[in-house]
Amino acid sequence: MTRGIKIAPSILSADFSRLGNEIAAIDIGGCDYVHIDVMDGHFVPNLTFGPPVITSIRPCTEKVFDVHLMINPAQPFLEAYADAGADVITVHAEADIHLDRNLQIIRSLGKKAGVSLNPNTSESVIEYVLDKLDLILVMSVNPGFGGQTFIPHQLDKIRRIRQMIGDRPIELEVDGGINVDNVRDVVGAGANVLVAGSAVFSGDDYSHTIRALRDAAVSI
Ligand code: DX5
Ligand code: ZN
Repeated sequence: MTRGIKIAPSILSADFSRLGNEIAAIDIGGCDYVHIDVMDGHFVPNLTFGPPVITSIRPCTEKVFDVHLMINPAQPFLEAYADAGADVITVHAEADIHLDRNLQIIRSLGKKAGVSLNPNTSESVIEYVLDKLDLILVMSVNPGFGGQTFIPHQLDKIRRIRQMIGDRPIELEVDGGINVDNVRDVVGAGANVLVAGSAVFSGDDYSHTIRALRDAAVSI
């Protein structure tokens, strides 16, 4: 039932004055992915990282850069984030009109293609793009900020998407409000990639928290 659990600390909650060291610390601490939240102050009410920031932190680790684009439109920026060093590029289904086209562009850039769904978005919007997806990201908070509370209704959506995926090689990632107390529910519903921002970076020992999340996830 472990489905290759992956822990993806979100650097949104890192200390930006020492971002390179923070990334090195989660790398040494055993993370699988580095989750990078890109915000535009338009699709979500916050601003974060442009492509030059990603270029500058790319040498800090060889771990997967899991780039979550909370921007609208995303299409004009896909190539820039690919060139900056993203490995997975996830766009929101609620942003650009042409999701199918964006997924094709991401794959044509040689990157893994992901789609993210806001808490109020039905999984039905991805029914006809499943074969163009490498990752589905279920938002378990409203995007824009770290440190929010997990929305339990998203567990039903995670279960339904796990059914939709069937035996396709698609990762099911959950983002927002994840901690050692709810990670079992999230994995039990079918998720295998777990984003954790404040849960990891609010503690002193990133390695300990990453291990605790992984242990809780594989204990079901
Ligand atoms: C929210 C971001 C999340 C956020 C998660 O818009 O997409 O990745 O950093 O932070 P926590 O784990 O603190 O909810
Ligand atoms: Zn995110």
